Amino acid sequence: GTGCSPAQGRIVANPAPRPIRPALPLSPAAPRGKRGATGLGDPYYPAAGNGGYDALDYDVALDYKRSRRIEATVTMTAKATQDLSGFSLDFRGPKVKDVLVNGRGAAFSRKGQELMITPAAGLPTGRTFTTQVRYAGSPGPLTNDRLGTYGWIPTREGVITVSEPDGTPSWMPVNDHPLDKATYTFRVTVPNGMQVIANGAPSTPVHEADTTTHTWSVRSPMASYLVMVAIGEFKELHGRAGDIPVITAVDPQYQSHAAKLHRNTITVTKWLTEKFGPYPFATSGGLIDDQRLGYALETQERPVYAGFVPSMNFVVHELAHQWFGNSVSIRRWSDIWLNEGLSTYAEWLWQEDRRRGNTAQKIFRRYYRQPADSVVFRPPPGRPGRRDLFGYSVYIRGAMTVHALRRRIGDEAFFRTLRAWNERYRYGNAQTDDFVALAEKESGKRLDRLFRVWLYTKGKPVNW
Ligand code: ARG
Ligand code: ZN
Repeated sequence: GTGCSPAQGRIVANPAPRPIRPALPLSPAAPRGKRGATGLGDPYYPAAGNGGYDALDYDVALDYKRSRRIEATVTMTAKATQDLSGFSLDFRGPKVKDVLVNGRGAAFSRKGQELMITPAAGLPTGRTFTTQVRYAGSPGPLTNDRLGTYGWIPTREGVITVSEPDGTPSWMPVNDHPLDKATYTFRVTVPNGMQVIANGAPSTPVHEADTTTHTWSVRSPMASYLVMVAIGEFKELHGRAGDIPVITAVDPQYQSHAAKLHRNTITVTKWLTEKFGPYPFATSGGLIDDQRLGYALETQERPVYAGFVPSMNFVVHELAHQWFGNSVSIRRWSDIWLNEGLSTYAEWLWQEDRRRGNTAQKIFRRYYRQPADSVVFRPPPGRPGRRDLFGYSVYIRGAMTVHALRRRIGDEAFFRTLRAWNERYRYGNAQTDDFVALAEKESGKRLDRLFRVWLYTKGKPVNW
């Protein structure tokens, strides 16, 4: 949200008492509030995110040492959405030195993944406030049998972060849910000779005797799982896709693939713009790092390909997420098919456009021939469960759902729906019901049965 609540604005501008109305807190030193909730109630990640405030911006200052240790200061600017006597951030990282709220020392404690903060003065509804957390140590990667390795991942030369769905709090305090998007500035100080790549647009580096500070900033709202900071040695290429600056980078090991990644990123950024509408962000790009994680992540403005040279399909998929997932974000993790089904379908559209004879219809039919108990169909992608969040069916049956929609409503209404989706929900959040409603509006057809069968019904979809 934006703007201050009228009541609070008046207190600041004019402290004169208003005797007729019920008592208002005359000074923020009189905390009327209660603690904000320690989770946003996501069915799969109930502890993720925090209630009571809306994060607006993060300033992430990292001092990275050769020893791989960091000294960090993260400053969140947020707006209280209720009267607050205290609030939480998601943080599972190294030892906290101190916390300041609006420049004054605040009490803090740690409990599970929460950093609980009690400011010296209460925060009334509508108040914008800053929270500065200083901490130091050596974060480590997360591993999970379904999600693989993610979070803060040491590489040969430095580190890379790839954090979907819940890896960012392993190294920085954050309101860790796609519902609370914010802008970010990364200011990363490294020993001279090392480089830094992150989301967004770079500023001119500032050199000191032994270190250099690199700044990258993201000016459009970004979900916390999309935060990407890479420290190491990279070959960097700069170019443009129409009006959009494109910055790609590769680990020296992939030196010979730098030009190809750059060229493909430019081609695909332009092609997706023709399909889905204006590119949503200030810059585009990509990064190939040396860490072989076996997957990629659509980190905003600059996807990470973790230890492989991406095929055209991969580049299409990760850049399609800039529209589907990054600009229009999910409201809860169970709607992940909106990200993965639509981005996988972009690959099918690429095949149809560029590979003569390989149509989306052919790809659909090939998958539809699989047996009903295949992982293509199981579980239904509309409610995959936390364990299958990135399972095959979310991607493939998700894309098949999109194709079933296209067949039902025809190309014109179909592409109109995808463009309207990006226009209407740009930089915000939306859920499956919103998508169904928009497709119904654009096509004038009833589509509840189609989506019920494809997204929520067990077994191989029939009779939709
Ligand atoms: N969204 C990513 C993609 O489809 C997948 C991320 C999976 N996360 C993980 N920790 N393995 O490209
Ligand atoms: Zn994806």
